[in-house]
Amino acid sequence: MSSTDYNSDTLNDMTPEPIGARRVVVLISGSGSNLQALIDAQQHDRLGGEIVAVISNEPSAYGLKRAHEAGIEAVVLPHREYESRDAYDGALIKVIERHEPDVIVLAGFMRILTPRFVQRFLGKMLNIHPSLLPAYQGLNTHARALADGASSHGCSVHFVTEELDGGPVVLQAELNVADDDTVETLKDKVHAREHLIFPIAVQWFLQGRLKYSTEGATMDGHLLPPYGMRLSHADAAEELDEDVAPN
Ligand code: GRF
Repeated sequence: MSSTDYNSDTLNDMTPEPIGARRVVVLISGSGSNLQALIDAQQHDRLGGEIVAVISNEPSAYGLKRAHEAGIEAVVLPHREYESRDAYDGALIKVIERHEPDVIVLAGFMRILTPRFVQRFLGKMLNIHPSLLPAYQGLNTHARALADGASSHGCSVHFVTEELDGGPVVLQAELNVADDDTVETLKDKVHAREHLIFPIAVQWFLQGRLKYSTEGATMDGHLLPPYGMRLSHADAAEELDEDVAPN
């Protein structure tokens, strides 16, 4: 080996690895409007990372088309082809690990996850849920809010734990339920709020500001209250250019 070779190797050793973009894997089952909000945020440099793969358990999910159009790898992993929940989640773990994600974003992924799956990625998974948690965990949240005559409704971003829709909440956006609201109108208003807050929460996580701990979610080192931070109806409506009904 000549001294020139030695020197150039040494220099190479000393050159720091470029810090790669933070890697985001998104899990979907359906329309993927939240996925679209994440893609839009990425395209405007507001996500703090790059979506490296979109995985759907439903082959017909429209979100796969959105991924494809954005040039993102779209993977179909149909749950019906696996004989058990555990076998499916094992396969899903493998596909996700191949993409070495910094965060796994559940954007309308309609599957109950096994404890093994949750433990594998604990502290790295964020989900969006269409209610102000802890109210209305589970399905049909808009209909249940209307049936209860709830005056306030909204959506929540939370860390995923083994308790369905029960992990520490990070960020919520609220809306005032109007007398003439229906399931459809509530769904639209909640969706608009989801698209507003989900990319923000993902960006905070990728920036290292938002973290999971066993006591709850922390933001900039401070433990958040059990139900996270909340965007009020007025602030969300202003952001979304919605008409705010006079009180
Ligand atoms: C959203 O309402 C979300 O809160 C729930 O599933 C729905 C997904 O919608 N988890 P989309 O596929 O993102 O349009």
